[in-house]
Amino acid sequence: MSYHTTVHNVYKKAAEAPQASLCCVPQSPLYLPELTVPEIMHAMNYGCGSTVHPDDMSPGQRALYVGVGGGLEALQLAYFTRTPGGVIAVDPVKEMRDVAKENLEEAARLNPWFDPSFVTICDGDALELPVPDDSVDFAAQNCLFNIFTTAEDGNDLAQALAEMHRVLRPAGRLAMSDPVAPQPLPVELRQDAGLRAACLSGCPTLEHYLSEITAVGFGTIMIRSRRPYRLLDHKRYPVDQDILLESVEVTAIKTPMPSDGACIFTGRMAIYSGSDETFDDGQGHILPAGMPMPVCDKTATALELLERPDLKVTPSTWHDSGGGCC
Ligand SMILES: C[S@@+](CC[C@H](N)C(=O)[O-])C[C@H]1O[C@@H](n2cnc3c(N)ncnc32)[C@H](O)[C@@H]1O
Repeated sequence: MSYHTTVHNVYKKAAEAPQASLCCVPQSPLYLPELTVPEIMHAMNYGCGSTVHPDDMSPGQRALYVGVGGGLEALQLAYFTRTPGGVIAVDPVKEMRDVAKENLEEAARLNPWFDPSFVTICDGDALELPVPDDSVDFAAQNCLFNIFTTAEDGNDLAQALAEMHRVLRPAGRLAMSDPVAPQPLPVELRQDAGLRAACLSGCPTLEHYLSEITAVGFGTIMIRSRRPYRLLDHKRYPVDQDILLESVEVTAIKTPMPSDGACIFTGRMAIYSGSDETFDDGQGHILPAGMPMPVCDKTATALELLERPDLKVTPSTWHDSGGGCC
């Protein structure tokens, strides 16, 4: 039986009754003024972070949400798009699509500004999106792509990312939240379809995850958040020692790939403290004296290699909030 069947069965069950232990992180839900989220959507929050960042969204944009779950983030995206069909939500599990539709109807009863027509829920698969090329401004998935196999076990993650890249317009944004592992997970865990479907054993390392995102052509990446997610305790799982999984929130932008590789922002800053008003590295980065400027990891490394006493480069915070050098 392929792991896809197990995934289907797990999420059919998760649609029929909320599963308290599935995915989720102890994090306050994103507060948006005048949005009342139905309780059932909170109970069915199967994400491991947030993919909704107000600075990614503008009114009138068209958004795609892959793996609708209980509909919480599709509703939050509709808060920004506010047009019929402004959000397309795709899910291959009929029971999940049906419950998301019911939950969105409940949201319409609680929120006078919201109309269920703002979200179009479609049957579809992340591996073959039912959406034309270059047709959406924004795409998101939360806690789904970690389930997909990487090169050692198949190659569904690369396929799913390539699909997201295909459907986004140039400069469009892909927001994702997924667990990552500190080291490659043992094969015995990776091949456990139940744990994989429950977002516990399929996740790649952060380095691998980022390399898969850049391999399909995303030229700019921001790591917006990184926090502990689950402990794979050696007493419960087939691991020699405990493994702490983390969850990350990443936004990838469909910019052209720079010749020296993607710009990856991890929250690093460069600060010039010399006697001139600005420092120009001759590569397009101008640092005003005394003002921390966000830089991507490539630029941070290049500036450190200059070994100048009037340049300070701060470490990764893993909480990048935009702006930058590239
Ligand atoms: C872990 S849940 C996340 C749900 C939602 N994103 C959230 O944050 O609550 C995974 C979701 O992806 C759906 N799903 C499973 N396989 C899929 C696939 N191949 N393509 C698209 N969605 C899929 C499941 O039915 C479920 O709704």
